[in-house]
Amino acid sequence: MAFESSADETSVAIIRDGNEIVSLETATQIKSHQRFGGIVPEVASRHHIEQVTLLADAALQDADVTYDDLTAITVTQGPGLVGALLIGVTAAKTIAWAHNLPLVPVIHLAGHISAANFVEPIQYPALALMVSGGHTELVLMREEYDYLVIGDTRDDAAGECYDKVGRTMGLKYPSGKIIDEMAHRGEDAYDLPRAMLNEDNFDFSFSGLKSAVINLMHNAEQRGESVDLDNLATSFQHAVVDVLVGKTERALKAYPVKSFIVAGGVAANQGLRDGLNELMQQFPDTRYIPVPIALAGDNAAMIGAAGDIAYRHGKRGEWDLNANPALEF
Ligand code: KG4
Ligand code: ZN
Repeated sequence: MAFESSADETSVAIIRDGNEIVSLETATQIKSHQRFGGIVPEVASRHHIEQVTLLADAALQDADVTYDDLTAITVTQGPGLVGALLIGVTAAKTIAWAHNLPLVPVIHLAGHISAANFVEPIQYPALALMVSGGHTELVLMREEYDYLVIGDTRDDAAGECYDKVGRTMGLKYPSGKIIDEMAHRGEDAYDLPRAMLNEDNFDFSFSGLKSAVINLMHNAEQRGESVDLDNLATSFQHAVVDVLVGKTERALKAYPVKSFIVAGGVAANQGLRDGLNELMQQFPDTRYIPVPIALAGDNAAMIGAAGDIAYRHGKRGEWDLNANPALEF
C-alpha cells in the first residue's frame, strides 16, 4: 500500500508486484488553491488530514483486501511541502506499526520515474527526463535503484514556468494543460529565448523564458497593443519543448541506454510527447516509455512502483522516520 501527499493530491494505492495497480484513490485539492494562484501549504495539510484515512479505506475496499493481505507500506518521504508530507508519513507509519508491516520510504521523483514500470519493465541502463512543477532533471540509472542526476534546472522547473507564465496570461492554476491546449490552436509568432540549449551540459534554465513572456505582455500593455494569447502559448511551448528535447538528445548521445522515460506532470504535455516521439526515431535501440498521461501527475500508484523497487533493495524506514522536504537522489 502506497501513500502520496507531497503537494496538492492525497493519494493511496495498492500495487501488486510493482507493476500492477490493484486500486488507486486520489483526492485533488486544486479547486481550493486555484483562487490563490498556487498551493497554500496550510490548506494543503488540512485537506490531506481529512482525506488520507478515507482514501486508505477506499483503496482496501476497492482492492477487496484487508491490511492482513499487505506485504509492506510505502510512502513519499520527500521532497515536497513539509506539512503535507507529514500527513502521508504519519499515516503510513501508523498503519505499518499497527499491522506489523515493513515501512518503505521513497523519493517522490523516483515515484514519477517508476510509473514507467506500469507500461513495460524499465531496462537498465535507463535515462529519465523528470519534468514536474518542482523539478526538471535528467536522471541516469545505470542499474535498478541507482539514480544519478546528470542534468538539473539552474532556476525554475518547467512546470513552474508554465504556471507562472499562465498566471501572467490570466489563466487558472495550474496552467500547464491549458497552455498546452492553446498551443495547439496558435502559431509560433513570437521570438522567445531557448536558454542553454547549445551549452555542452545537461542543465536547464527557464527563468529567462518566463521573464521574456512577462516583459512581452507588459510592453504590449504599455503600448496599448494586444497579444494573441494562443500564439504566445504556441511560441512559449515551442521554446520549452526545444530545450527539453535538445538536452535529452544530448544526454542520449552521451549515455546510450536501453530505456528512456519521460515522467512527471509536464510529461502529459502533448507538444513534448510529440517532440520526444520524433527524437526517439534517432535511437532505435532505446525503448521509449512515456508515462501514461493518467499517471504523469502526482499519484500513489507511482509511489507503489518505486516502493516495490526500494523494498526489494532492502530499504526500510524506522519508526522515527520523518518527512524530508528537501530529499534528493
Ligand atoms: O508532477 P506534478 O503533478 O507535481 C509535482 O510534483 O510538481 O506536476 C505538476 C505540474 C504543474 O506545474 C502543471 O502545470 C504541469 O505539471 N502540467 C503540465 C501539463 N499538465 C500538467 N505542463 C505542461 N503541459 C501539460 N499538459
Ligand atoms: Zn510530482
